[in-house]
Amino acid sequence: MSQTFRQLLRALPDFPETLPDFDPDTAPADPAELFRQWLDEALAAGVPQPNACSLATADVLGRPSSRMLILKDIDDEGWHFATSRESRKGQELTANPHAALNFFWQQQGRQVRVAGSVVELSREASASDWHARPGADGTDNPTWQLYAVRPREIEFWQARHDRRHTRHRYGLESFS
Ligand SMILES: Cc1cc2nc3c(=O)[nH]c(=O)nc-3n(C[C@H](O)[C@H](O)[C@H](O)COP(=O)(O)O)c2cc1C
Repeated sequence: MSQTFRQLLRALPDFPETLPDFDPDTAPADPAELFRQWLDEALAAGVPQPNACSLATADVLGRPSSRMLILKDIDDEGWHFATSRESRKGQELTANPHAALNFFWQQQGRQVRVAGSVVELSREASASDWHARPGADGTDNPTWQLYAVRPREIEFWQARHDRRHTRHRYGLESFS
């Protein structure tokens, strides 16, 4: 009997045999610092594009949509990403300035999710991000917008083979 699609999905392997340890008790108080540590470890482990994440937005009726994009920076303004203000996500963010990011690093069994309100950064910062893109040809794009997610919550998740997966959550008290 041929394998059903459900059986095929069930039989797929999940995480590699060796997973990194993560002890939330030794995690830094600043979630951005822990993210940079994990990003360094992802790079060292050969994770391709660890700066890529999904961005979930919702329209005014609360109907969600998501897509992948690239994290551009983390600073006091928040977690930066850039896109066209005229795109679907740009329009959704204008109507409903809240979003969630999700990073997944399969080789390490790690996920980082970030949720909060979204602010538009300056025209100058947006233009400089546009011109710094690979393949930029010097032409302007007035629709290009740099945004920052101001986290309300951040959760670091580490898979374990004994299924006692570790979750480490930062709430509003962690953000200045
Ligand atoms: C790995 C990856 C990185 C991407 N990075 C960006 C990005 O930084 N900004 C962007 O506007 N689109 C990026 N895209 C394309 C988006 O996923 C999406 O298709 C596009 O922006 C249109 O989305 P929307 O119609 O929901 O607004 C990326 C796609 C992939 C797969």
